[in-house]
Amino acid sequence: MNESLHIVDELPAERAAGCPFDPPAELLDAREHGPISGYTHPGGRPGWVVTGYEMVRSVLADPRFSSRKDLMNVVDFQLPPAPPGEFLLMDDPEHSRYRKPLVGKFTVRRMRMLTERIEQITAGCLDAMEEAGPPTDLVTAFAKPIPTMVICEILGVPYGDRASFQEQIDAFMGGEVSDEELIAAYTATQEYLAELVAAKRAEPTDDVLSELTDSDLTDEELKGISLLLLAAGFDTTANMLSLGTFALLQNPRQLAALRDDPALTDGAVEELLRYLSVAKTFHRTALEDVELGGRTVKAGTTVLLSYNTANRDPDRFTDPHTLDLRRQAAGHLAFSHGIHQCLGQQLARVEMRVAFRALLDRFPTLRLAVPAADVGLRPETADIFGVKRLPVTWDAK
Ligand code: HEM
Repeated sequence: MNESLHIVDELPAERAAGCPFDPPAELLDAREHGPISGYTHPGGRPGWVVTGYEMVRSVLADPRFSSRKDLMNVVDFQLPPAPPGEFLLMDDPEHSRYRKPLVGKFTVRRMRMLTERIEQITAGCLDAMEEAGPPTDLVTAFAKPIPTMVICEILGVPYGDRASFQEQIDAFMGGEVSDEELIAAYTATQEYLAELVAAKRAEPTDDVLSELTDSDLTDEELKGISLLLLAAGFDTTANMLSLGTFALLQNPRQLAALRDDPALTDGAVEELLRYLSVAKTFHRTALEDVELGGRTVKAGTTVLLSYNTANRDPDRFTDPHTLDLRRQAAGHLAFSHGIHQCLGQQLARVEMRVAFRALLDRFPTLRLAVPAADVGLRPETADIFGVKRLPVTWDAK
């Protein structure tokens, strides 16, 4: 490549004022210069950032790039390997040893069974909102409880334990507590999951975790898998529900179209996934020297992949910064691509389809209760993008 190297040196940069749904300007600008830019990781290590759709996709499909935590070259010290069971940060064959037995658990039959439960769970949240009356914080009343209760179904958390388990998850994943409280909630969640695994082994019930006890996976591995399902499935879905509602409320014509046409729901969910890309960046490390767009990514160098910028690439999506619920958004990278492509994507889709539909049907006059500029956004340092609180109101009957 003859062009001079574009350098992105200020990440994580915050989003531009008034553009809460757009990736930071520095990343959009980088993509304008080409799909790959020079970059220094916040921990000080030199690397690259990939922002073009085709290049992100090809790195994700390339076995010369690793997801291993202990190979990640972003800080000045050696990171430990991923704990047993946490296969998001492992390569094959270790990764597929854990993933394979799980794939069959997220079957159409189980999704169908879960759909009914998700409908009930959603209706319960909406009943409570209606009963309490407006205004409310949609994050607390709707976006968080739905994925939390769904993960309880999957792990088979007994009903009696759900309230305290939900509190722990909220503290552990919600990102709104002090470091001490976070460590306490993480430890309590781990301890609870260890007990849960032991209970399922002793007395299996009808859930994914019980089924997994009938395999060669150890208790420690099952605990790691449970933690991964929790970490990967809860915060992502919760933020898609809250930020997605915010985006719809800010795009009244799109919102009206969706309200009027239930057949638009599936496509709307795909477009919201593309447009918002709440799981915004992930890392991969080169196992050997790799040529990317005329640049050499040296063995051992870590590349930041910007899924949200890739999903706004005009070479792939026409008019990418417009939320257009009728577009063909399929092929977006919001669930990644390659061997780590989201295991729970069908489940997440069901949750979002059911929840958005029910919310709009139940509250036809739903609107923000504060000016849009006052809706608190998560900082870019958060792994998953979203809103902290979403105050909404409606005309009570
Ligand atoms: C809208 C919601 C969700 C989004 C945006 C999302 C996004 C993602 C992304 C981008 C990855 C791949 C990361 C990479 O490339 O390294 C991933 C992996 C994963 N997700 Fe999701 N996810 C969502 C919901 C869920 C749910 C509901 C579950 C299950 C309960 C789940 C379980 C997983 C697991 C286990 C992995 C690791 C897969 C592997 O490494 O093979 N996710 N998710």
